Amino acid sequence: MHIARTIPKLHELLGGHRRTAFVPTMGNLHDGHISLVRKARKLGDVTVASIFVNRLQFLPHEDFDTYPSTWESDCEKLRAAGCDVLFAPDEKALYPELQTCKVHPDPALADILEGHFRPGFFTGVCTVVMKLFSCVQPQFAIFGKKDYQQLMVIRHMVRQFALPIDVVGVDTHRADDGLALSSRNGYLSKDERGEARQLSQTLVLVAKAVRDGITNLDVIETRAMALLRGRGWQPDYVAIRRRSDLQMPDGGDPLVVLAAARLGNTRLIDNLEIETVTSHFPSSAMTGHTEAALSAQ
Ligand code: PAF
Repeated sequence: MHIARTIPKLHELLGGHRRTAFVPTMGNLHDGHISLVRKARKLGDVTVASIFVNRLQFLPHEDFDTYPSTWESDCEKLRAAGCDVLFAPDEKALYPELQTCKVHPDPALADILEGHFRPGFFTGVCTVVMKLFSCVQPQFAIFGKKDYQQLMVIRHMVRQFALPIDVVGVDTHRADDGLALSSRNGYLSKDERGEARQLSQTLVLVAKAVRDGITNLDVIETRAMALLRGRGWQPDYVAIRRRSDLQMPDGGDPLVVLAAARLGNTRLIDNLEIETVTSHFPSSAMTGHTEAALSAQ
């Protein structure tokens, strides 16, 4: 695997390659990232990953300064997965001058849910992703569905700017108990890690309540948030939305439920497409009690 620390070096390494498949990351790689690299390998002639912790997408009180860096093991994992080129610029190489020119995504999509609780987050994401796209010039870009809204915002940006890139979404990688893999899971204490599966299980219960025909989605969302709160979480949202644009459902649309909640100091997000559920999750771990909490009329 070649490592490029600068944009000219990246161009030198990629010269002549026509089908580049690209996996942007912020490092601290886990099996979820590696599944993106595997997908990239199937799509392109050359696989490029990037590691860059992007200051622009963090709010001042967030974990930019402490974001975990696991450089050696990241390189090992990428090598083992067959990544050809790792683009790992430092801030000076990617933002040699103050990045005043930014990409502001459509507020209808980007100022809701995550964007509501993390104002400016998707501007930071779109700006760096546009810049990385411009450096790598990929034919394919691979993103995890765990960051469902991010994937939609990026797809919309690519469409609006007519970028010649296929944006490919890959299913969320989960631990055996259903917890979505995330670099931030490492912040959880042992007890919190035990509790953390409740987020995905709550999504399963929400999906079940919708499939069981409860039509008042507000009630389901409120009960799901109460369930989490009762177990010591601080939920930002549990929201049942249209898959197509993340707006409120108005009947018959394929749905997704998205959630963000804090457990101790760790903020976790997860989502579930409502018609394609349960098989990913061990139902044995769900108690009748929690199930009843959402389905009670
Ligand atoms: O999903 C991430 O890790 C980041 O938001 C991304 C896409 C690498 C941009 O910094």
